Amino acid sequence: MSVTAKLSLNGTDFELPVFEGSEGEKAIDITKLRSTTGYITIDSGYKNTGSTKSAVTFLDGEKGILRYRGYPIEQLAEKSTFLEVAYLLINGELPGKVKYENFAEKVCHHTLVHEDMKQFYEAYPSKAHPMGVLASMVCALSTFYPLSQNPNRPPKAVDMTIIRLLAKLPTLAAWSYKNSLGHPIMYPKNKYNYCENFLHMMFANPTEEYEPDPVAVDAIDKLLILHADHEQNCSASTVRIVGSSQANLYSSISAGVIALWGPLHGGANQAVIEMLEKIRNDGGNLQKWVDKAKDKDDPFRLFGFGHRVYKNFDPRARIIKKSCDDLFEKLGVDDPVLDIARQLEEVALKDDYFIEKKLYPNVDFYSGIIYRALGIPTEMFTVMFALGRLPGWISQWKEMIENGEPIGRPRQIYVGEKVRDYTG
Ligand code: ACO
Repeated sequence: MSVTAKLSLNGTDFELPVFEGSEGEKAIDITKLRSTTGYITIDSGYKNTGSTKSAVTFLDGEKGILRYRGYPIEQLAEKSTFLEVAYLLINGELPGKVKYENFAEKVCHHTLVHEDMKQFYEAYPSKAHPMGVLASMVCALSTFYPLSQNPNRPPKAVDMTIIRLLAKLPTLAAWSYKNSLGHPIMYPKNKYNYCENFLHMMFANPTEEYEPDPVAVDAIDKLLILHADHEQNCSASTVRIVGSSQANLYSSISAGVIALWGPLHGGANQAVIEMLEKIRNDGGNLQKWVDKAKDKDDPFRLFGFGHRVYKNFDPRARIIKKSCDDLFEKLGVDDPVLDIARQLEEVALKDDYFIEKKLYPNVDFYSGIIYRALGIPTEMFTVMFALGRLPGWISQWKEMIENGEPIGRPRQIYVGEKVRDYTG
C-alpha cells in the first residue's frame, strides 16, 4: 500500500505522494502542490527542502554519518587515496587497479594549462585573493576548450572535461599562490602523484631543490578526501543550479568556487585561523570570545562551530582532529594557535549556549591548523577546500545532467508594493 500525506486547506483535503530514500529518509512530494492547490511552500535557506534525489553521498546529521557512494568516510580516509575517491564519486564504483591506473595517468598527463593563461595571472593585482583568481581561471578554461560548451556532448568528451578539471585545478591553484608572491610559476612534473605535484608547484622554486615531504603529502591527501563531497550544500547546490541552465561544466564549477569562498561555507577555514590569532593577540581570554559569540547584539560568531546538518558531531572533524595531533607529533610542530583552538573547543563544548544549540566543531575548525603546519598560507585554505570538493561538484553536476533535471527556478511570495501609477 503506498503511503501518502494529507494536507487540509480551507476544509479541502489533498493527498500528497510520499517518497522514501534508500536509508529511510522520507519526503513529501510537493511538485504538483501549486497546480492542485494554488499554494507554494516557503523555506528560507532551503532548511527543509530536498532539491533532488541523489545517489552520490549519504549523510545523517543526527548520527554523524557520512558516506560516499555507500562507503563510510572513516574507511575511505584511512584506506583510499583522493584520486580513487574522485573516481568513486564521479563514476559510482571503486575503480579497481587497472581502471585506477588508467584514470590517474590521464589526470597526470593533463596538468599543463595553455600558456596563454599565464597572461591572465600577470594582469591580476599582486595581492589578489587566490579564490577570486581560481574562480575566474576555471571559468577561463571554457574559452580554451570551445567544444566543452555543450554539457550533453558524447560521454567521452564530457569525460575529457572532467579529467581536465581534475588535472588542471591544482596547477591553477598553485599558480594563484605564486602570483600573489610575485614569484615565477612552477610547471607540473609527471613523476609526481596528485598531491606531490601540488606541493611541488606551491613550494618549489627555480633557485633550490624541493622534494615533497611524504608526511605532508599524506596529510593533504586525507584532507582532500574528507572534503570531497557533502551532498546538497551551498556550493554543490550552486553548481547544480548553474549547470541546470545547461551552462558548461567549467563555468558551473567556477560558480561553485565562488559559493565556497564565503566565510559561512568553505571560507570558514581561513576565518578560523584569523579568529584564533585575534584571540591570541587579544590576550587569550577565551570566555570573552565565547560570550561575544553568544551575544545577539554582537555580529561575532565562533568560526568553525555549528553546521546546518550535523547536530551531534561532524565525523570529518573527528578524523581531522586526530590527524592534526598525529601530524604535529610527526613534524614536531609547536603552534600556540593549536593550543588556543584546543582550549576554545573545551570552553565552548561545556557552555550551555553551545550545548543547547548543538554547536560542535565542524570540518573547518582543525583543517586550517593542519594547512598552517604544512606551510600553506592562510589565504590558500579555501583554495585547498576547493581542490578537495572538485570531484563532489563534478559528481553532483553529472548526476543532474544524466537525470535530465529541469532548470532550477524557485518561486517566491511577493511582499512589495501593489500596483501603482507612475507619477514622474
Ligand atoms: N557561533 C555562535 N552562534 C552560532 C554559531 C556560531 N558559530 N552557529 C550558529 N549559531 C547560533 C545562531 O546564532 C542561531 O541562534 P538562534 O537560534 O538564537 O538564532 C543558532 O545557533 C542556529 O544557527 P543558524 O545560523 O540558524 O544555523 P544555520 O544552519 O543557518 O547555519 C552555519 C549553519 C552557517 C554553519 C552556522 O553554524 C555558522 O555561521 N557557523 C560559523 C561559520 C562556519 O564555521 N561555517 C562552516 C560550516 S562547515 C562548511 O560549510 C564546510
